[in-house]
Amino acid sequence: MKKTLAAFGLASIAAATVNAQEVTWSNSIKGIVEKQCVICHGSDSAAEYQLFKKDKEKWLAKGQGMRMDSYSHLVSFVGWPNSGAMMRRLDDGKSSSDGKQGNMYQHLGATEEERQQNLAQFKAWVGNWTLKRWAEITRDDLSGIKAKY
Ligand code: HEC
Repeated sequence: MKKTLAAFGLASIAAATVNAQEVTWSNSIKGIVEKQCVICHGSDSAAEYQLFKKDKEKWLAKGQGMRMDSYSHLVSFVGWPNSGAMMRRLDDGKSSSDGKQGNMYQHLGATEEERQQNLAQFKAWVGNWTLKRWAEITRDDLSGIKAKY
């Protein structure tokens, strides 16, 4: 019992520390993206998602995706128009109906510990971690998305 209480106490202290500073793009996500993602989603990649789609083979041959190195670019893969794309690609399989990891999860870190830590930051930033696409997403789902600058 004592042990449980002590563990609970520690857990609430940890939770309080996490809550102390709200996760924003500026204080957390920007740094993770710069470290883990811009090598393929920076200024050498397609300037816009539509331009990537138009010349997909060319960009894939270069090992490049589309730009996500600014707040505006990144949030377009969270809320609209590519609703839930960030969540579907970064999910570790715990929120997906088939239990499969998103194909960008592997890029979140070199170790499982680092991937989980960075995923937790993304989840805290997004708020409502919905994997739904624009056609299925509801107004309530969207209201739960924070993704603060
Ligand atoms: C080694 C290169 C590489 C790295 C590193 C990488 N990506 Fe990607 N990413 C790609 C390529 C190429 C595509 C397009 C092909 C595809 O859809 O899988 C892509 C697609 C995506 C998409 C889907 C966009 C859409 O709607 O079609 C998201 C979201 C994404 N990446 C997020 C990330 C995030 C966040 C990181 C960092 C944690 C990251 N990626 C790291 C190469 C990379």
